[in-house]
Amino acid sequence: MRVLVVGSGGREHTLVWKIAQSPLVRKIFCAPGNGGIHERAECVEIAATDIGGLADFAEKEKIDLTVVGPEASLAIGIADEFQRRGLRIFGTSKAATQTEASKVFAKKIMVEYGIPTATHAVFADAEKLLAHIHQREAPMVVKADGLAAGKGVIVCRTKEEAERAVHRIMVEKEFGAAGERVIVEDCLIGEEASLLAFTDGETVLPMDSAQDHKPVYDNDEGPNTGGMGAYSPAPVVTPEMYRRINKEVLTRMVRALAAEGIEYKGVLYAGLMISEEGPKVLEFNTRFGDPEMQALMPRLENDLVEVMNAVIDGRLSEIELKWNQASAVCVVMASGGYPGAYEKGKVITGLDSLPGDSVHVFHAGTKRLDDGRIVTNGGRVLGVTGLGETIADAIERTYRAVQTIHFEGAHYRSDIGAKALRR
Ligand code: AMP
Ligand code: GLY
Repeated sequence: MRVLVVGSGGREHTLVWKIAQSPLVRKIFCAPGNGGIHERAECVEIAATDIGGLADFAEKEKIDLTVVGPEASLAIGIADEFQRRGLRIFGTSKAATQTEASKVFAKKIMVEYGIPTATHAVFADAEKLLAHIHQREAPMVVKADGLAAGKGVIVCRTKEEAERAVHRIMVEKEFGAAGERVIVEDCLIGEEASLLAFTDGETVLPMDSAQDHKPVYDNDEGPNTGGMGAYSPAPVVTPEMYRRINKEVLTRMVRALAAEGIEYKGVLYAGLMISEEGPKVLEFNTRFGDPEMQALMPRLENDLVEVMNAVIDGRLSEIELKWNQASAVCVVMASGGYPGAYEKGKVITGLDSLPGDSVHVFHAGTKRLDDGRIVTNGGRVLGVTGLGETIADAIERTYRAVQTIHFEGAHYRSDIGAKALRR
């Protein structure tokens, strides 16, 4: 098969790495790719959101399967366009992607179908929203409705912080049209986890659990990012919790969307708070998680291409996922200043001297220069994943590797995996 992967982040490098292991695959392209992806795939300069250009390329190159990484491509209908042209694609339709692209839409479905989540209110008017904030108790969470690269959610400890959040979203319009509607919801207490499932619209097949680390600094301090690290499995998701999430969240959501006339094929990702009463949904995403994938894929024993084919063909009931018993820890190395403004073009050293089997370096914001040097080219630069028999082994191995990689301004959290150790 000839496969095209769409995107340029750590998730897409991980997808390319995993797809390259499939005996079904002869050639991989990636659009637009990054400085690490070119080792296993031919990178082509087409933007992930140029869906006409991507479909033309898939037709011309006789691509058998296109796999979509970013939500931005899904939200503008890449899957619909490919299907219209008779091209095979792994990714949710534009209608299904509303589940991620509009938090207001997702909340409406959750409330109607009894999927556990925080109590919320929706506003399109800043004055009314501010009046609501004054009436309620802090803490609270303020969320832009639309896509904001994981940064449109602001957890507010005080009413003043909530007022500032409203100002950023609705007055300064920091997230553009994504902030036209705003949700205010109760602040949930517990430990977070991510559970991603493959679904063909009928069968819902959850992956093993993972945990992301969204805030930029240790101990979950500082602003939210796209994700500063992940590990898998996440012990907070006990076998009983896993069953509940599958039934009360993932399967219920797929059935709910079907009842609304939306066929859901692809990945459904639940970002969850594991609270004392059980799992509560923080958000749904309609694609693979980043950096969860960098911790999950090195543990998956199945051929990912077979699983994706089964999703597309509606025979996911034939598949059983198998995970190795290792623990995986992924630490994201970011550019100085991220998630705020940062500089690009810093030379990265130390990438060549890493142990092969137990450590994987997945590139995100990197670029390869003509002379072969790799330089930084984004906020999240690298995802370094180490595997170990225990989570402690994996943490040690990962941080040993991280310490051998250098670029000016690099920063990373030093506590990825610590929550698992505490359990
Ligand atoms: P989201 O993009 O909706 O997953 O939110 C990003 C991050 O904000 C989550 O990973 C949580 O850390 C935090 N968050 C979102 N909603 C809530 C909530 N209702 N209570 C507490 N924290 C939340
Ligand atoms: N890990 C967060 C995300 O993929 O949205």
